[in-house]
Amino acid sequence: MAILDIARMGHPILKGRAHEVTNFDDPELHTFIDDMKETMVHAGGVGLAAPQVYVPLRIVIFFVPEGRDGGAAVPMTVMINPVIKPVSDAMAEDWEGCLSVPYLTGVVPRWTQIKYSYQDVDGSLRERPAEGFHARVVQHETDHLDGVLYPMRMIDIATLSFTDAQDDDEVEDEKQEDEGGEATVEKTPASNAEEPAL
Ligand code: NI
Repeated sequence: MAILDIARMGHPILKGRAHEVTNFDDPELHTFIDDMKETMVHAGGVGLAAPQVYVPLRIVIFFVPEGRDGGAAVPMTVMINPVIKPVSDAMAEDWEGCLSVPYLTGVVPRWTQIKYSYQDVDGSLRERPAEGFHARVVQHETDHLDGVLYPMRMIDIATLSFTDAQDDDEVEDEKQEDEGGEATVEKTPASNAEEPAL
């Protein structure tokens, strides 16, 4: 097992189309996937695509934490050669972050309901429905396989923010409370500073 370096926005590896995996018996494939898992956990992310660690193959790992958007948790999933189909035209906007776009966050529209198919580590074909955050993560990660980063999907670029700048707002709010301000005033969750990176 090894922790791999993560490519950042601007590197050519993140701009190309990654190749399909065809040989599922290659022991190096399984070692690499283990390294991806270790790297994602080490980086504190919830998703990682192979091009993000400089390997141009159509491999993604992700999980969905318990209680996210009120939805069910999804255990660590390895998706190879994933294909996404929207179930309806409905889209929703929400904040996203990305391990390849550190320190930043922005609002991105995504399909709210999808079906996706992929091959697992043994090459078996699987299909799942997904909605909400689960659907968002799958779309974000699969975009990485086609050279697309979330800022390229943003409609309102004005929402692109440094996560620690959003933290500053919260610090201000807390400071006011400390100074005898309206301690009972509820803070507006205007930021997503705690949003996990994809
Ligand atoms: Ni990402």
